[in-house]
Amino acid sequence: MSKHKDSSDHRSSKKHSGSKKSDKKRPKDGSACEVTKGRVRAHFLDGETGPWAKRLADQASAADDVVATSASAPKADSANAAAEVAAASPRHQGPDYTVPSSIDIVADPVLHAMSTRRSISKVDGETPNDSDLREIIRSLSSVADHKGLRPWRFIILRGEDRHRLGVALDEAAAVTRKPGERNEKPLRAELLLALVSSPSENPKVPEWEQHATAAGAGHLLELALWQAGWGVMWRSGTMTNEPAVRRLHRLSPGELLMGWFYIGAVPERYRERMAHSTRPLPDPDQFLETL
Ligand SMILES: Cc1cc2nc3c(=O)[nH]c(=O)nc-3n(C[C@H](O)[C@H](O)[C@H](O)COP(=O)(O)O)c2cc1C
Repeated sequence: MSKHKDSSDHRSSKKHSGSKKSDKKRPKDGSACEVTKGRVRAHFLDGETGPWAKRLADQASAADDVVATSASAPKADSANAAAEVAAASPRHQGPDYTVPSSIDIVADPVLHAMSTRRSISKVDGETPNDSDLREIIRSLSSVADHKGLRPWRFIILRGEDRHRLGVALDEAAAVTRKPGERNEKPLRAELLLALVSSPSENPKVPEWEQHATAAGAGHLLELALWQAGWGVMWRSGTMTNEPAVRRLHRLSPGELLMGWFYIGAVPERYRERMAHSTRPLPDPDQFLETL
């Protein structure tokens, strides 16, 4: 895939950082950006979710109230009223779980995908094609990335490349096999994507932050594949960054191999099982603390 880069789409090319200041696609009349496959717009502008949406709704209903009451109601001193409300409120002492959340992780498609995603340990042979992969990789560009360094990339392994990985893993683990025998582990999927964390020197962005960004790209990849209907499992192991394995992936000294994503179709039996199974979500309190 990377060998046949679409020259018309520089925005998706590796190491692209930041957005262009002169935006040729922005309409001159100042209206919202044109939405294309190469340029997307945040859902916030639709004003349907989040505090922004709530404020818009509140403003709309307040405007209605003003219209309805302006003729008769006495003018309230709104500044004094707001001060009184603030004075009456108890000081915030920590999490307040008494207010019910308006966030619905079942109704919201993104939150639903996030909370239901699961790894598929045995995938079928059908795989996303390289065009599918390009689309998915584009969607990962939203990963949080200090200074936009893009410190990650994926290496596609299909067919014979998976045997080469088996040989490298064997070499790393000093495994010798009988003639005709081979390491079957990399053959568990027809398509593997190796994730490389590729930090660069930056006075403001320490190496660990760049590894965190690369890991984030991996998690987004799993989520994107899940949402696109593909099965995936992230695997690594103690040999992942051994010299023979690093050599195969042509890693530079500062780079880290973060493992491989084993990708394929979700087998029918999984789909049947998933249709009848639910997974309990953990108690969120275990992940939340205050100072
Ligand atoms: C960096 C990384 C490496 C992993 N390596 C392996 C692995 O080698 N073998 C394995 O069984 N699970 C591995 N896992 C865990 C699985 O990908 C998966 O998350 C786990 O089985 C739990 O399943 P779930 O994703 O459905 O919750 C790894 C996860 C991460 C993030």
